[in-house]
Amino acid sequence: MRNAIVITGTPGVGKTTAAREIARADGYRLIELNSLAKEAGALAGQDPERGAAIIDEAKLKRELTKALKSEGAKFIVEGHYGEIVPPRFVERAIVLRLDPRILRQRLAERGYPPSKVDENVQAEILDSCLASAVEAFGEGAVLEVDATGLDFQRLVASVREAIAGRGLAPGSVNWVTRLQKEGALHEFLR
Ligand SMILES: Nc1ncnc2c1ncn2[C@@H]1O[C@H](COP(=O)(O)OP(=O)(O)OP(=O)(O)O)[C@@H](O)[C@H]1O
Ligand SMILES: [Mg+2]
Repeated sequence: MRNAIVITGTPGVGKTTAAREIARADGYRLIELNSLAKEAGALAGQDPERGAAIIDEAKLKRELTKALKSEGAKFIVEGHYGEIVPPRFVERAIVLRLDPRILRQRLAERGYPPSKVDENVQAEILDSCLASAVEAFGEGAVLEVDATGLDFQRLVASVREAIAGRGLAPGSVNWVTRLQKEGALHEFLR
């Protein structure tokens, strides 16, 4: 019973923005992983060095399983650790991507400390969420959407297309090559 679309990607790429609109308009139940973790008491503390919550993964997986077992409902599950969703429920995983230069600016505007901005921007450059999704769900179940330059309407439209199976195959987005071509890679090498 595959009844879940996973929307994952580095913090700040626009997952919640896209997922809320598509869930509302297209009749999905929305599970925001951060909220579920909080509600379920699956936050196991705070990593002081990274300024990020530590997730009790076993507990969160149990909660997800409980929720996704609901008969007859279709779900969008969104969060930057989307690979935590038990694969037997997952119909497709969509990895939102964003040009590291825009991501850096967005995260800085959010007030993230520089070390946290860098960590997340590097994760985006290294395809970290994509690799996790492919490992968890298999290459055939994963599509990328490049959100760079897309306004809200176009972002939503592109994610809808990917839900329908029309998107970029894993590995299509390559920030290293793009930054190199545009002479911007040095900004990210330290
Ligand atoms: N297409 C877009 N164009 C411009 N700004 C956007 C777009 N999509 C999202 N944003 C803005 O970028 C910020 C991050 O978006 P959002 O909260 O949806 O990201 P997220 O991937 O859910 O991040 P997190 O993993 O931290 O929850 C928000 O301020 C949002 O308004
Ligand atoms: Mg979010």
